[in-house]
Amino acid sequence: MPVTVVVGAQWGDEGKAKIIDLLSKEHTYVVRYQGGHNAGHTVVVDDEKYALQLIPSGVLYDHVIPVIANGVVVDLPTLFNEIDTLEGRGISCADLKVSTLAHLIFPWHQAHDAIAEAMRGDDKIGTTLKGIGPAYADKARRVGVRAGEVVDAGRFAATVRARAIAENELIEHAGGDPLDVDEIVTRFAAFGERLRPHVTDTVTLLHDALGRGAQILLEGAQATFLDLDHGTYPYVTSSNPTAGGACAGTGLGPRDISRIVGITKAYTTRVGAGPFPTELLDGDGDTLIDVGREFGTVTGRRRRAGWLDCVMLRQAVRLNSLTEIALTKLDVLDGFDTVEVCTGYRLDGLLIDAYPDRSDILAAVEPVYETLPGWKTDLTSARESGELPAEAKAFLALVEQQVGVPVNVVGVGAERDDYLLWTA
Ligand code: GDP
Ligand code: IMO
Ligand code: MG
Repeated sequence: MPVTVVVGAQWGDEGKAKIIDLLSKEHTYVVRYQGGHNAGHTVVVDDEKYALQLIPSGVLYDHVIPVIANGVVVDLPTLFNEIDTLEGRGISCADLKVSTLAHLIFPWHQAHDAIAEAMRGDDKIGTTLKGIGPAYADKARRVGVRAGEVVDAGRFAATVRARAIAENELIEHAGGDPLDVDEIVTRFAAFGERLRPHVTDTVTLLHDALGRGAQILLEGAQATFLDLDHGTYPYVTSSNPTAGGACAGTGLGPRDISRIVGITKAYTTRVGAGPFPTELLDGDGDTLIDVGREFGTVTGRRRRAGWLDCVMLRQAVRLNSLTEIALTKLDVLDGFDTVEVCTGYRLDGLLIDAYPDRSDILAAVEPVYETLPGWKTDLTSARESGELPAEAKAFLALVEQQVGVPVNVVGVGAERDDYLLWTA
């Protein structure tokens, strides 16, 4: 069963792309299964930074066939911009496959995203304003336009026109500026032409590949606690990043998957609003943000930061059937005298066992911390477990003991090769 899923175990930006890049060495297909260009996935190779939004992070390897599967919502302007940028840097995207069944994002989705956020006032979710929620809403109410529709150019143009006219009425009703229908139809007709050679029955493609014994890597975007069902609703994204979403989002079955890798930072970050029990609003939080360069890849927003939360990670293990953890950014903790790890939550003074199923309860819990001595050593050049100071080893041992699955990979810097395989 050669399918591996990589899933964010926190609120996103855990360093998934770097781990996917690493795992891509031994995989032929790298497949995005949900989300859209709200994702910002960074790989750094020889000081060259690649920030990917839609194209799977395995694309940097020649042997990888990148696949955008049915669960993704695809913004064509971003897709082609990304292809042009990558090809300008010598990376071919000719093999890219886009599922016939993937839904497309249109400018009215972005307009609706902005209107919905403005209407929420102080209760804003803090979305990326990329139109992700409205595109998934259209999919759910069965009025979406799918990538496969571009094979019939005339019909595609007529559908885009009809949808644009209908959506303009709603936008104007909500007080927004109407969109230029002719401009959208012309622009998207050209995008449709360009998309056509990439459109593929990716369900058959992936199952045929499995039949031949090919290795398939499924790349989660966003993360467990941004999951529409299991995240901190309503402060979530509109898809299912959790491992179950990888099946719905690709057409592979649960029994095809053998390995599920959860990615966590050595601390926690979040962009946008919503509860965050271990958030630090003091100098330590500023240090995590400054040293960890915690500014959004997509929106440039300053991320919120706090200590590592093992209660979240235990829940991520359950929700995703994680077989292992990859822990990134351990180097960001290098300068701390002491490091805190959250091992439990108290509610009204009492320890609670179950992960709160309501955002208002999560916002009210008090974290219980275990304090560990810091290592005060630059870890960036460490390449083997044995090179880690005892204090860093103790940190990793505590995480494994708390979370109950092994930590296999440890990130010690942003570069492709800044990692070590951890054994206690
Ligand atoms: P993703 O969305 O989960 O792929 O993560 P992002 O790319 O949005 O954010 C992770 C950031 O951390 C990127 O800037 C990476 O280059 C960087 N990064 C990844 N792993 C490490 C690591 O182990 N140490 C350090 N210092 N940076 C890392
Ligand atoms: P990657 O894949 C971090 C957050 C937004 C907002 C919420 C809903 O790089 O980890 P949306 O635009 O999806 O409707 O916004 O989800 N969000 C992310 N946060 N990393 C991401 O992706 C995110 N994608 C969406 O900030 O709070
Ligand atoms: Mg990101």
